Amino acid sequence: MNKKEAKEKIKKSHFGNESKKALTAWIEQESIGSVGMGLFDVPPIIERAEGPYLYDCDGNGYLDFLSGFSVSSLGNNNENIRRILVEQSKKLTHYFDFPHPERIKLAKNLNNKSGINEKTNVVFGVTGSDAIELAIRAARHYTGKPYILTAFGDYHGVTYGTAGLTTKGGSHQYFHPIRPNNDVGYFPFPHQYRKPNDKYPGYDINSLKIFQQMLEGKETPYTDGFHNINNVAAILVEPFQSSAGYYIPPKEYLQILRKIADRHGMILIVDEIQNGLGRSGKLWAYQHSGIVPDIICTSKALGGGLPLSAIIGKEKIFSTWSPGAYVSTQAGNALACSAGNYVLDTISNQSFLDQVNQKGRYFFKSIKKLKKKYKLIGYVDNCGLYTGVEIVRNNKTKEPAGIESNYIRDLCVKEGLLFEKGGYYHNRLQLIPPLNIDLNDLKKCIDILDMVFEKTSKKFKIE
Ligand SMILES: Cc1ncc(COP(=O)(O)O)c(C=O)c1O
Repeated sequence: MNKKEAKEKIKKSHFGNESKKALTAWIEQESIGSVGMGLFDVPPIIERAEGPYLYDCDGNGYLDFLSGFSVSSLGNNNENIRRILVEQSKKLTHYFDFPHPERIKLAKNLNNKSGINEKTNVVFGVTGSDAIELAIRAARHYTGKPYILTAFGDYHGVTYGTAGLTTKGGSHQYFHPIRPNNDVGYFPFPHQYRKPNDKYPGYDINSLKIFQQMLEGKETPYTDGFHNINNVAAILVEPFQSSAGYYIPPKEYLQILRKIADRHGMILIVDEIQNGLGRSGKLWAYQHSGIVPDIICTSKALGGGLPLSAIIGKEKIFSTWSPGAYVSTQAGNALACSAGNYVLDTISNQSFLDQVNQKGRYFFKSIKKLKKKYKLIGYVDNCGLYTGVEIVRNNKTKEPAGIESNYIRDLCVKEGLLFEKGGYYHNRLQLIPPLNIDLNDLKKCIDILDMVFEKTSKKFKIE
């Protein structure tokens, strides 16, 4: 799409005049590569927000099931975070990548709550990609090995250091003529819904077992031909696959990877940037599988709306580093850390997590009722307030309904419900409300989906 086409789309969109003016200015001023029109037909321009609601330039409200891509877990413009930021700004806003009280407090807080059963240390960054780069740098330096293994469909960032680890929708083409991060191997991500023999297939847990056999056999790039695997530093995975479409794998997924990592001295890194921090009803998504990782990467919700990331890893993994091994001017920013302490304390509180689970159960039950009513719902992945809905044309063949999913997303925007669409087959609705949303607002979302599914079923004759 070029700028002229983008402007045409804006003109034809349903948005009000103020929104159209702002959208046109945006397209004139920013590069066409900006993500807005990649994720929405035309994105609403949000001017202000409160709790689970976003408001565009014409004052129209939207229920926020995007949460700034899993950032606004405590709601938009959270009053307590605002107060903490004002107080902190009177003391210190920035002090380079140096220690300050809020940062030290947050590091201790993260170490205490990592769930890793030995001494850990924290490293701070600014973005999610920073955290991933820090984790793979640490793993490579500690093991002295180059390869990182990751799952097809995982999203770990799109900086030069992380893009090779992300197999998301053609993003590599934009790195031409240089390939992003080399020395990366990929394995299948097991689905619950689609199976290898389906007409529209997906991998299952057995695919992972075959991968394990391939990895350890003779014909593999990960050995020198005579020894066991000896050049893989780490396995890096999302415990649940988020940007790909909100997929929850079988429990054995992380268990199998933990065994492979243990057998070959690999570091197991979990990317909890999108699915961690209470989203799944536990503090960390990995905690659903009964394993313990070596490094956890976190970001997004951690800064309460301010950019902040961190990795928490076994202390020994960082033992080959000396002072100055890493630095980033804005890492561990004072304002962001003060918000981070509040976010972590709030979300890790068991009664808060109990509420996430209770609301998640209500939401799941409600969507399952819609599934009974509408054949276009093929499958629902849910854990806490982490929900992916698979839209199909035919419930028996599981034929993916990509165009219909676009229609659903666009109609939902018109009806005042915002969420992101994904899926290996472009047919998944990713529903991520703030974790402190109340039941009434969850019900509003269900009512909008009910109405939109009815219209979609009729329009596309999926009955
Ligand atoms: C699981 C996961 N890892 C890493 C990243 C990269 O984070 P950032 O965009 O802040 O660099 C993202 C971003 O969406 C993500 O979802």
